[in-house]
Amino acid sequence: MTAEQTREPAHSQPENRDADRVEIAPHGEAIRDTYTHGHHESVLRSHTWRTVLNSAAYLIPHLTPGLRVLDVGCGPGTITVDLARRVSPGTVTGVDASAAIVAQAAGLAVDEGVPNVAFRVGDVYALDFADDSFDLVHAHQVLQHLANPVAALRELRRVLKPGGILAARDVDYGGVAWYPKLPGLQSWMTAYRAVHYWNGGDPDAG
Ligand SMILES: C[S@@+](CC[C@H](N)C(=O)[O-])C[C@H]1O[C@@H](n2cnc3c(N)ncnc32)[C@H](O)[C@@H]1O
Repeated sequence: MTAEQTREPAHSQPENRDADRVEIAPHGEAIRDTYTHGHHESVLRSHTWRTVLNSAAYLIPHLTPGLRVLDVGCGPGTITVDLARRVSPGTVTGVDASAAIVAQAAGLAVDEGVPNVAFRVGDVYALDFADDSFDLVHAHQVLQHLANPVAALRELRRVLKPGGILAARDVDYGGVAWYPKLPGLQSWMTAYRAVHYWNGGDPDAG
């Protein structure tokens, strides 16, 4: 991971937005994306309750002791730490592009007394792991933020052992509905989708 590859959320440095964008294309594709949601406290508060049970229950039948797991785009690490508890004495690695959120996730693991989890800064397009490293690779609410999710999936497959499990979950804003049909919420959705597309992701990735 070079300093050049480290990205911070655009909202924290709006004046440097274009400068912060990094193009990394291990397979030759053009990639340009910016993490839309950022790590503002208002976003992180909604993360604090994310667990395997409430956010990634599809993994539960596959979480056996001893597995080696990668949780990419791990954010504050609440799911990652829960994964580590469930595969102990296996190991879990959380990777995220933001150094600040990686530090926070590492602090969570210490606070929770979970020793078999490690966090590191990294980019989903160019992971710092050998081929066939993990039994299970997970990306929760990450692919929607990527300009080239197929390149990312290729990289996730590269580090996955043959026969391993690659799991991803993403929202599909096109499928989101609410009632009553409040005009303010409709305006929010229109603006949100435009910003998400501008940042290079796909709000309908799910
Ligand atoms: C919506 S958050 C999801 C966090 C966590 N998986 C969860 O569900 O609580 C998306 C995360 O992906 C990270 N991210 C975005 N682009 C990335 C990239 N190219 N490589 C690694 N992480 C990335 C962001 O920094 C952010 O923490």
